[in-house]
Amino acid sequence: MASDAHPEIELSSIKTFPVHVAIVMDGNGRWAKNKGLSRSEGHRAGGEALDRLLDFVVTLPIPFFSLYAFSTENWKRPVSEVQALWDLMNEFFEKRVDHCIQKGIKIRASGDVSKLPLLNRKVLKRVIKKTENCSHLTVNFCLNYGSRDEILHAAEKIMQERLEFYKNGQKNKAEESITEEEFEKYLYTHPIPPVDLFLRPGGEKRISNFLLWQSAYAELYFTDKLFPDFDQNEMLKALAWFEGRDRRYGSLSE
Ligand code: FPP
Repeated sequence: MASDAHPEIELSSIKTFPVHVAIVMDGNGRWAKNKGLSRSEGHRAGGEALDRLLDFVVTLPIPFFSLYAFSTENWKRPVSEVQALWDLMNEFFEKRVDHCIQKGIKIRASGDVSKLPLLNRKVLKRVIKKTENCSHLTVNFCLNYGSRDEILHAAEKIMQERLEFYKNGQKNKAEESITEEEFEKYLYTHPIPPVDLFLRPGGEKRISNFLLWQSAYAELYFTDKLFPDFDQNEMLKALAWFEGRDRRYGSLSE
């Protein structure tokens, strides 16, 4: 587990970067409460922190950045908060799309986006299309995303495929074992590689149904900073900590 006690860190001192970083943007509500603001205002501050963070991450040699923006469980929040989050996302995408193109940020989504409000689906489709040729950084917005849902969805897809083989008389193919590679093809995140660095600001030390399969060998970094305060320097601390990890993947150190 990481501590907050690092001094300021120079970017030039970091030599090894993760390929895929994932972040749980937690703590917006508490940040707002501490300031006597509404939860929606906390999410707005989270959106602004995200803006600044993306502008920094795109300057780093990190090709993939996944964000837990709305979980399959977030529907249980009050309707007004859910609506405020969807409105904020539309606003964020509309405002940022040209900036993303300019910076080379490609937007994509993971999750069951068919359940999003109609306007969000339209806006999302438009930004994905508009940024499809950007190649510096892929920002993967996880929307109506939950790992259990994703894994069940993949299992169902494979079951349907096997049934098709049966129907076509291809019994051998229908009875083939499922490989990890085949399974991964059906994950919402495909073809993004596994998570190397999993970040959770906000003080909680849990994964909360986020990228469970993809984070099998991720390094887990927790900090008490609330997401609206998670800035460039916090990101540098996490990266410096990551560089010091000995990643063995179940094997032994060299
Ligand atoms: C968790 O904080 C955060 C969320 C459920 C939403 C994350 C959304 C944003 C950062 C807004 C920006 C997103 C986009 C796509 C523009 P919490 O509300 O659970 O915080 P708490 O634990 O302090 O209550």
